[in-house]
Amino acid sequence: MGNSKELLKLYTKEVDQVIAGYLPDEEGQQKNLAAAMNYSMKAGGKRLRPLFMREVYRLLGGCGREVEPFMAAIEMIHTFSLVHDDLPCIDNDRLRRGRDTTWVKFGYHMAVLAGDGLYGYAFETAARALAFTKDAGAVGRCIGLLAKKSGISGMIGGETADVELTGKPMTEEQLDYVYRLKTGALLEASMMIGAILAGGDEKQVQTVEHMASCVGMAFQIQDDILDLTSSQEVLGKPVLSDEKNHKTTYVTLYGMEQAVEMVDSLSKEAVKALESLPGEHGFLRDLIMMLVTRER
Ligand code: IPE
Ligand code: IPE
Ligand code: MG
Ligand code: MG
Ligand code: MG
Repeated sequence: MGNSKELLKLYTKEVDQVIAGYLPDEEGQQKNLAAAMNYSMKAGGKRLRPLFMREVYRLLGGCGREVEPFMAAIEMIHTFSLVHDDLPCIDNDRLRRGRDTTWVKFGYHMAVLAGDGLYGYAFETAARALAFTKDAGAVGRCIGLLAKKSGISGMIGGETADVELTGKPMTEEQLDYVYRLKTGALLEASMMIGAILAGGDEKQVQTVEHMASCVGMAFQIQDDILDLTSSQEVLGKPVLSDEKNHKTTYVTLYGMEQAVEMVDSLSKEAVKALESLPGEHGFLRDLIMMLVTRER
């Protein structure tokens, strides 16, 4: 585990460098828009989605650069989701990644447009993978997957259901649905894109989807737990946001004890799926288990 912690630091830096290389230039007519887009991208964050993408890619034997534009693209889409999630009309939060949220810093109009800008720029960026590969078919499939898992049958669909169900009693099925879409779908896209670009077969891509789905569910439950147990200083975002917004969460529905247990058992299920794949699992296994006890 100690070794994996050091590796995680190193890999996060490498991911940051890849992302930095794909951000829009802050110049010309759209200088202010690019600055608002880059503000939240450069604020940091754990970079888990590109990290998982690259590690699954390597696990299944990928060794090229076509994964890099996709790493930047998935982080752009994730960051767009956060910029809009924080808006006054959604979660109304003022702090993100240790800084004022985009709407506090640049105004509502720019936060809406910076989110839109990031979403479009993500696809423009992903298409740049074509310059690094002869397998245009795989790149095309991954672009389609990115659209599906981020759009109405993925993250945006999940955020919509989350907003629509806020303040209403929610069943276990509804909560499961919201988490699978709003958080699970982007993690699924991250890892599946890694697998497809590496040339994984259909069975492997399906295994990776299942693994990512378990990680995504565990990740959102842990996010709910941290909203209650952590501090703003450690999280870099406000605590008790869910309570403020009268959200049904895994913790309100099942209680803290069962929530903690669920994070652990889902993560173990993810590791089981991982271990059915070929390759060196050490770092990915440690990363998944580190998320169980993450503090931010
Ligand atoms: C926060 O995601 C939103 C959820 C899906 C729970 P992260 O916890 O990955 O946020 P960053 O990227 O590290 O800021
Ligand atoms: C949001 O869930 C998941 C997204 C798709 C943005 P939350 O609303 O719980 O995320 P945080 O806690 O604000 O990061
Ligand atoms: Mg939210
Ligand atoms: Mg939120
Ligand atoms: Mg949350």
